[in-house]
Amino acid sequence: MIMTPGFRKIALVTHIISSVGSLGAVAGFLALAIVGLTSQDIPVTRSPYVAMEVIALFVVLPLVFASLLTGLVQALGTTWGLFRHYWVLVKLLLTLFTLIVLLLQMDGISYMATASTETTLLNTDLVGLRRSLVIHAAGGLIVLLATTMLSVYKPHGMTRHGWRKHQERKGGRT
Ligand code: HEM
Repeated sequence: MIMTPGFRKIALVTHIISSVGSLGAVAGFLALAIVGLTSQDIPVTRSPYVAMEVIALFVVLPLVFASLLTGLVQALGTTWGLFRHYWVLVKLLLTLFTLIVLLLQMDGISYMATASTETTLLNTDLVGLRRSLVIHAAGGLIVLLATTMLSVYKPHGMTRHGWRKHQERKGGRT
C-alpha cells in the first residue's frame, strides 16, 4: 500500500506535529514535576499537579497515541515498511513503551492531583511519588529525543525481512 504524494505530505506533517508536539508537552510536564518536587514554598509545591493531570490526559496521551497511529501510516504507506529497517522498528517499540509507561503512570498522576487540592498536603508528603513523576517524565523526554534523532538520521541497517524484500524487488527488476 503506497500513498499518493499529496496524501503522503499531509500524513507526514500530521506525524511530525503529533510526535514532536508530544516531546514539547512532556518537557512542560517535566518542568511542572520538578517545581512540585523541589520548591521550598509549600503552596507552590501543591500547585502543579492538577495542571500536570490535565496535560497528561488531554495533551501527552492523545499526542503519543496519534504519533503511533500516524507513524504506522508512514511505515505501512511508504517503502520504509514496518519491519524492514531497524530505525523504524526501534521507533515503534520505543513509542509503544512510552505509551504503556504513560498509561501505568496515570493513576499516580491523578492521585497527586487529588491530594494537591488538600491544603494539608506538605512539601514533605508523597515525596516518593513526586520523585517518580520527575524520573518518568525525564525518561520519557530522553526516549522521545532519541526517537526524533532516529527519525532524522535514519541510520542504515535492514532487518532480515527487509533484506529479503529488497532482494525480491531487485530480482523483479532484472
Ligand atoms: C514519538 C515518537 C515519534 C517521533 C518523535 C517521530 C518523529 C518523526 C519525524 C520528525 C519524522 C520526519 C523525518 C523526516 O522527514 O526526515 C518521522 C518520520 C517517520 N516516522 Fe516517525 N516518529 C515517531 C514515531 C513513529 C512510529 C511509532 C513509527 C512507526 C510505526 C514511525 C515511522 C516513521 C516513518 C516510516 C517515517 C518516514 C516517513 C517518510 O520519510 O516518508 N514514527 N518521524
